[in-house]
Amino acid sequence: MKVCVIGVGYVGLVTGVCLAEIGHDVICVDNIESKIEKLNNGISPIYEPGLEKFIEKNMKSGKLNFTTNLKYGVEKGEIIFISVGTPSLSNGQADLSYVEAVAVEVGKYINDEKIIVNKSTVPIGSGDWVSMVVSESIEKNNLNKDVKFNVASNPEFLREGSAVGDTFFPDRIVIGSSSKKAIEKMLELYKPIIEQSFGWPPDVPRLLPKGQKIPVVVSDLTSAEMIKYAANSFLATKISYINEVANICEKVGADILKVAEGIGLDSRIGPKFLNAGIGWGGSCFPKDVSALAYIANEYGMTPQILNSIINVNREQRLKIVKKVQDELKIVKGKTIAVLGIAFKPDTDDTREAPSISIMNSLINLGAKIKAYDPIVKERPHTLSEKVTLSKDSYDAIKDADLLIIATEWDEFRTLDYAKIKNTMNHNIIIDGRNMFNKEKFEDLGFKYMGIGR
Ligand code: UDX
Ligand code: UDX
Repeated sequence: MKVCVIGVGYVGLVTGVCLAEIGHDVICVDNIESKIEKLNNGISPIYEPGLEKFIEKNMKSGKLNFTTNLKYGVEKGEIIFISVGTPSLSNGQADLSYVEAVAVEVGKYINDEKIIVNKSTVPIGSGDWVSMVVSESIEKNNLNKDVKFNVASNPEFLREGSAVGDTFFPDRIVIGSSSKKAIEKMLELYKPIIEQSFGWPPDVPRLLPKGQKIPVVVSDLTSAEMIKYAANSFLATKISYINEVANICEKVGADILKVAEGIGLDSRIGPKFLNAGIGWGGSCFPKDVSALAYIANEYGMTPQILNSIINVNREQRLKIVKKVQDELKIVKGKTIAVLGIAFKPDTDDTREAPSISIMNSLINLGAKIKAYDPIVKERPHTLSEKVTLSKDSYDAIKDADLLIIATEWDEFRTLDYAKIKNTMNHNIIIDGRNMFNKEKFEDLGFKYMGIGR
């Protein structure tokens, strides 16, 4: 099928590339020239493991094209994905201005029957709103007033750093629409994934056995939109919950790793997303939880659980600052090393990264900070200019009074900590992601502090 994906960010790019890989003709559109230029040279503008080889392969086969020409993409595409950003406004509401701008353009250029798919996370009821915006634009801007279209919601559940695997081997596919035709077309589009019948590179392990059917949830638009918000909010709740339990563990002397293991073995709870640490960041959880809370408030409700998980998460990152103050007493003038800037490993995304609020707070207390991240090389615009970006972990840690692990990158596991011990002023480590063995570090002569242990 011919597909147009508008908005080639973390979600749009992965969606477009994977749809090309399963055999569709995909045109990816973005309004940032430099991004499209990079992609036309086979370079991915985002760090996503395993993506670049699929970009190269499908560009070579002609299945995947990149352009800034939205008109061209809309005219060619039978199915048009909208996956532009929907960032949070200061009051928590989702900013739909980009979605609106694109919907107006789609209405202007739509030339025959299309299916318009919301991939961007949009507030509940926005699917109908997109339909209205497109219809108004056809009325106002399009020469062909009779052109037909249907709207569908197809929320994404991609985790950054594993987005390619999550696309090919999803737990489920959700399709929401009031149009039978739109639903049929979407089922046809995803057929190779639903049936797990697509070809897969022999040297890369499949995450699901060939032929295993993927569950599809077909619903109305609003329920599909709610599934996305409810899923992300539940995952964020699980993390804030285990962080609150970890904080209690610290007081009573329990080990959160054992507690998480013990409760995770209950099949009703499950072991995933029970890693206590400095909390959740990224472009989705903070935005989606705030947006769902905002929607509840719009209807006169008080979303007590959602408000609590936001508060727990905000305070969790500041607990690290408190631990630093308790350890160093005087923070002013002290040198602190921070390993990890990205909001989680295997991504270059620093949006709402806990590491950044922690570093900015410590800078405000007068600390000198040296930070290192294996992938994030450019200073995020949200990070204080006073933070020094180091070229590697050892450079960041040298002469430090204290080390903070903020992101659990694999490469931090294999550092030579016996050597590191002799380069630090004081051997204090705050393991913000509980990635290390406490006893091992204590045997090396470190004062080790984790979260909830
Ligand atoms: C986006 C939404 O923010 C998120 O809510 C949804 O769940 C998935 O899609 P993400 O891919 O991370 O997430 O967004 P972002 O990385 O900001 O990429 C959006 C892309 O759209 C950017 O490349 C931007 O240049 C592009 N864009 C934005 C357009 O092409 N046209 C516009 O008018 C606005
Ligand atoms: C999330 C959802 O998982 C995904 O389904 C949705 O489509 C987009 O949002 P993502 O934000 O990429 O994906 O990352 P995720 O792996 O979910 O982690 C989110 C945050 O929670 C990160 O900051 C991570 O460090 C934190 N986290 C995750 C924990 O603190 N503890 C955990 O056990 C798991």
